[in-house]
Amino acid sequence: MTTLDKNAIASVRPFPPEFLWGAATACYQIEGAVTADGRGPSIWDTFSHTPGAVWNGDTGDIACNHYHRMDEDLDLLQRLGVGAYRFSVAWPRVQPSGQGPANMRGLDFYRRLIDGLRRRDIEPTLTLYHWDLPQPLEDAGGWCVRDTAERFADYVDIVARALGTDVEHWITLNEPWCSSWLGYGAGEHAPGVKDIGKAAAANHHLLYAHGLAVPILRSAVPGAKVGITLNLGDHQPGSMHELDQAAAKRADGNLNRLFLEPVFHGRYPEDMLEHYRDVSPGFSVMRDGDLEVISQPIDFLGVNYYFPSTVIDASRESEARLAGYYVSPDVQFPDLNLRSIETPGRGKTSMDWEIKASGLTSLLVRIRDDYTDLPIYITENGAAFDDYVDPDNRVLDHNRVAYLQEHISAMHDALDAGVNVQGYFVWSLLDNFEWAFGYSRRFGIVWVDFPTGNRLPKESFHWYCETIRSNSVVYARSVGAE
Ligand code: FCB
Repeated sequence: MTTLDKNAIASVRPFPPEFLWGAATACYQIEGAVTADGRGPSIWDTFSHTPGAVWNGDTGDIACNHYHRMDEDLDLLQRLGVGAYRFSVAWPRVQPSGQGPANMRGLDFYRRLIDGLRRRDIEPTLTLYHWDLPQPLEDAGGWCVRDTAERFADYVDIVARALGTDVEHWITLNEPWCSSWLGYGAGEHAPGVKDIGKAAAANHHLLYAHGLAVPILRSAVPGAKVGITLNLGDHQPGSMHELDQAAAKRADGNLNRLFLEPVFHGRYPEDMLEHYRDVSPGFSVMRDGDLEVISQPIDFLGVNYYFPSTVIDASRESEARLAGYYVSPDVQFPDLNLRSIETPGRGKTSMDWEIKASGLTSLLVRIRDDYTDLPIYITENGAAFDDYVDPDNRVLDHNRVAYLQEHISAMHDALDAGVNVQGYFVWSLLDNFEWAFGYSRRFGIVWVDFPTGNRLPKESFHWYCETIRSNSVVYARSVGAE
């Protein structure tokens, strides 16, 4: 970087001509209009209205009001120049009680969205489930019961028949780890349950739901490209100590292998089955034939990557502190018996997530080596920083530009290493409702003034425009050695 002219924008390292650039959002995080046109309540409506569950008591009731400002947001996407837009469909808009006939007014919204994308020559990438389970299904047991997976299959059938003619890329689930382990294990996400046994059962039923959805999509949408989006991580042991190595393996088992192994190899990892053997109901909810359903062929893998992780065995915590490491006080899953430590000198985002772009490269290479050579899309990558609008009405988010540039470059490294990466979706188009953090964390490349709903493209928006236009890694003058 220091060899580049700081006063110019330099773009180097071109991507293949057909590389797909996109932006991503999720319905509950941006839509608002939670009672419009017959939408029913979801677990996130209930959770966000539960005192103490979400920062500042924030809810998605209004969010970015995208439901009523859709055309403006489509125009932003067009200005950005993306080839694809990843959005999610709200199950409670389509089936307000989680089952029964389709609510046509809910479907109409997505029909208009897809038509608007097509008119602007933007490819829709549709996620069927981004965490907003209809509340009545949660009341009947949620993802801890098998019936929810069957209900999901009905819902997928409705959406595929209604919208299938204009959507080629389908993502069954977004980050089932978060739905199961954060939702039912750590209780940090909706429905706010803290029970490891239920989390494991949810893990299985979510994957089973994914498996049920695949043939439904294939039969309703000829030529559909079907995939699943997983949040995966690159876990490193804090030292060569065998206890730390084992801790990293447990962390990897819970986040990565519990999802990658069943989807690509048709089995759960033995060490994880053993680890969760005595929890109830746990993986005992699995029935004969489920793993075949879960592992049937898909067409692509969606990968969400944000941060690296370095772990040690819990028993080595004081030793690590004495050696000068910062050991995170957050222990999400006491059963895993590990602690996260920070690597000195590494930058962090305002989520307190460490920044390590090369973690994306190693993750992608590992997926190729251990699991699949299918096309991979980075379906989310981005960063929250403490942005502000300056007196000249600009948001100069140089730190986000740097983050994105480093990660796009790291993705290029993976391409160079022969990984089949075919696209990248920035998270996120808009500042939005960041789950348990409410509106306190801004991930957008477009600033949203929540009281008015006004949108203001940030510096990163203009930089990403240039990235897309030049189809290469863009080193902007605001990045780096200044
Ligand atoms: C992912 C979620 C997405 C967003 C980002 C920051 O885990 O899929 O909705 O909140 O994190």
